[in-house]
Amino acid sequence: MRQPIIAGNWKMNGSRKSIADLMSGLKNGVAEVGDVEMVVSPPSIYIAEVAALSSGTSIALSAQDLSDATSGPYTGEIAGSMLKDFGCKYVIVGHSERRNVRGEGDDLIADKFKAAQDAGLTPILCIGELLEERESGVTEEVCARQIDAVINKYGTSVLSNSVVAYEPVWAIGTGKTATPEQAQKVHAFIRDHIAKKDQTVADGLRIQYGGSMNAGNAADLLSQPDIDGGLIGGASLKAEDFLAIGKAAGNL
Ligand code: 13P
Repeated sequence: MRQPIIAGNWKMNGSRKSIADLMSGLKNGVAEVGDVEMVVSPPSIYIAEVAALSSGTSIALSAQDLSDATSGPYTGEIAGSMLKDFGCKYVIVGHSERRNVRGEGDDLIADKFKAAQDAGLTPILCIGELLEERESGVTEEVCARQIDAVINKYGTSVLSNSVVAYEPVWAIGTGKTATPEQAQKVHAFIRDHIAKKDQTVADGLRIQYGGSMNAGNAADLLSQPDIDGGLIGGASLKAEDFLAIGKAAGNL
């Protein structure tokens, strides 16, 4: 049985004031969400503050990125050990905005995945195809390549301590959600692809969907057999909407 995981990726949004308000809304409602792991991923400068604001609740903390290095002369970077030091449980690696906007490649992302685990964090590995890749029929190849970058370098068993987020790039921030059938097809492919190497790892792996998930479409997406949660951008910035997605996962 895979416990659903609903994670809010706040991206580069918020202020001390808006984050305090959001956390207060989440604290008031999170107990009503059922057996669902609720996670928030603030910009790194707010992690300490969100750790304090979420203390005593079941809300887990994630970072949005980390360095592949452990320490040293890497100006502007943050090591996994530092994120762990401030209470993070998860860290997102390979988000499409890092792959496609910041130019991070599969190899660096695989190293970040491993650096996260070495620091005691659970990586949330984001994968997903661009619109032109979907239109040219290579969605599965792209997802397989992005997963295999980790498997080929570090083995299949490392996936047992991770979450995978399938985020079709064309659905991110566009309001164009994948249909439940489109998403399920790719999620099933991802699980099968991993199952060919290790059935137990595949069966236990939580695979989130991300891309314009909101309070209105969450239940249909989350009711698909291989969709085990969501990685939510815009709708995670409003406590009411984020909690509604959590409840949709809890009511399945
Ligand atoms: P939206 O929910 O805003 O489409 O963003 C999805 C995402 O990129 C989460 O990581």
